[in-house]
Amino acid sequence: MCGIVVYSGRGRDDAPALVLEGLKKLEYRGYDSWGITSVDRKGRVSTLKRVGKIGGADPRSVRKLLGSGSVAVGHTRWATHGGISERNAHPQFDCAGRIAVVHNGIIENYQELKAPLVARGHRFTSETDTELITHYIEEYMGKGLSLQEAARLVARRLKGRSAFVAVDTRSCRIAAARLGAPLIVGVGDKGRLFISSDVSGFLDHTKRVMYIDDNEMAALSGSGDRSRMPSFFEIGSGKRVRKRIITVGWKGGTESKSGYEHFLIKEIMEQKRTIAQAINQDDWRIRQAAGRIRNAFGVFIVGAGTAGRVCAAGEYLFSDIARKHVNSAVASEFASYRHYLTRKTLMIAVSQSGETVDLLDAIDVAKSKGARVLSLVNVFGSTLMRASDDYLMLNAGAEKAVASTKATTAQLSLLTLLAYATAGRLKDGKRLLLDTAAQVNDMLNPRYEDRIKRLARKLKGQKDIFVIGRGVNYPMAEEAAIKLQETSYIHAHGFAGGELKHGPLALVRKGSACIVMAANDDSKREIMGNAMEVRARGGYVIGVAPENSDVFDYWLKVPDAGSASPIVNIIPVQILAYHLALLRGINPDYPRNLAKSVTVK
Ligand code: M6R
Repeated sequence: MCGIVVYSGRGRDDAPALVLEGLKKLEYRGYDSWGITSVDRKGRVSTLKRVGKIGGADPRSVRKLLGSGSVAVGHTRWATHGGISERNAHPQFDCAGRIAVVHNGIIENYQELKAPLVARGHRFTSETDTELITHYIEEYMGKGLSLQEAARLVARRLKGRSAFVAVDTRSCRIAAARLGAPLIVGVGDKGRLFISSDVSGFLDHTKRVMYIDDNEMAALSGSGDRSRMPSFFEIGSGKRVRKRIITVGWKGGTESKSGYEHFLIKEIMEQKRTIAQAINQDDWRIRQAAGRIRNAFGVFIVGAGTAGRVCAAGEYLFSDIARKHVNSAVASEFASYRHYLTRKTLMIAVSQSGETVDLLDAIDVAKSKGARVLSLVNVFGSTLMRASDDYLMLNAGAEKAVASTKATTAQLSLLTLLAYATAGRLKDGKRLLLDTAAQVNDMLNPRYEDRIKRLARKLKGQKDIFVIGRGVNYPMAEEAAIKLQETSYIHAHGFAGGELKHGPLALVRKGSACIVMAANDDSKREIMGNAMEVRARGGYVIGVAPENSDVFDYWLKVPDAGSASPIVNIIPVQILAYHLALLRGINPDYPRNLAKSVTVK
């Protein structure tokens, strides 16, 4: 959560404009408030902070207020410590207004670190945990230390996953520390340097990057200095670290809405091709991963939120297709399984962003027990990708809407392919998934969307929506509920069809909406029985199924996709969630209180 973009150039650069442009690309990381501080050619320091999304910021008014200059530091915020206000937006400053700091993550020992500063007379002007970094740097520099050394000493004291960048607005020197949250240096031409929490913050200007690893920091000299190459250090020892420049091949996908009104619908429609892209992998890599799955003593598939639901579906896929027992776990709960992890365990970590802190913590647990980590990840160069022993890319292209759609079906596709490969049937898996991709391509047509729009009109006033499924479609029912919750703000609840009679049926009244995911598999007879139980109590039954039935009040046809049913079943619900959001006056791309990349616990 939170996005950081810093630019340090020389000469006649327009640093605030470059930072603004980069921050707009990172808006998905947080959109409560934003701020930019710049230093102009005469050394004048200006700061602009606003509540709300940076996407709406007009570059002309930003230029008017901040002018141009060769150094600027910016931040888009997802509030953790302190409410949403200009005062709490970053950059934060020390008492003298000299050190500007932007920060991502949480300082867990905040109270303990703040108290002595207050006792020594430092004035805090915000409620953020970030601000204490500025005051410590101020103290250390007051004792004659350089910015780099001061930032290093503060970084050593911080507990929790975070990253910060500190700019000395007098010398224009910059120090950036990574303590579990990503920070990447972009090396442009003519001494132009960027620092960002995501390569997309500067990818339009340079593809040459230097990764700051965990517990390391980077130091950039002032814009007037001759050597413009950053230097890197260990935070603990202060020892110099050598780094290579890596050229990023990843394009990040198209970042515009390509004519669509919202990223969400654009990304839903991109599923016409992303399923095929997800399985477009080197056979040897899939076979190698499948071999590891077969030979591991204990396999855990782990993810958070939607990715967690995909992992739960994966458990069924490996059982049904490969007769292989794998355990799925929600990332934030994974530590409870630590007693079962050994060097022979394989952890499959599933994530769109590769930056979800719950998952990164889960990996740490697995690694501490010597387990091997295979990640399925969408963002190239992400922390997850770099921390894994092996990785497979989802190839879905940039996913910007907070609600995951195309990455979800890419994850499902890749797990299905791995399950087939584990069963020694890679070719069968490929054939099935390519057929599914073609069927999804046909399904995503304007008439289909119109039919779902009509359903959305019927459901827009609902207080609750229930979703049921069985077998592999039980986790998909839960995922459907997540989609509806985060985009339409309607209370939605997904559960196993068989559980209905154990409690939730008491909530069903005349007109209660219930989506039934009825795949053409072993569970069909029973899930249809559950649908009838809802209907018998006056419920409004929406069937997501290859065939219509008298039990359905409304039918959303999906292809008969066999083992790929989770992929085709979730897509109509994604479209429904999108149209419910529009009808209820909600921006489907940016749900309240959420962020795309969840980098806090
Ligand atoms: O980037 P990740 O896949 O690791 O993200 C995990 C969850 O935060 C994410 O799936 C979240 O649940 C989405 N908002 C769901 O649409």
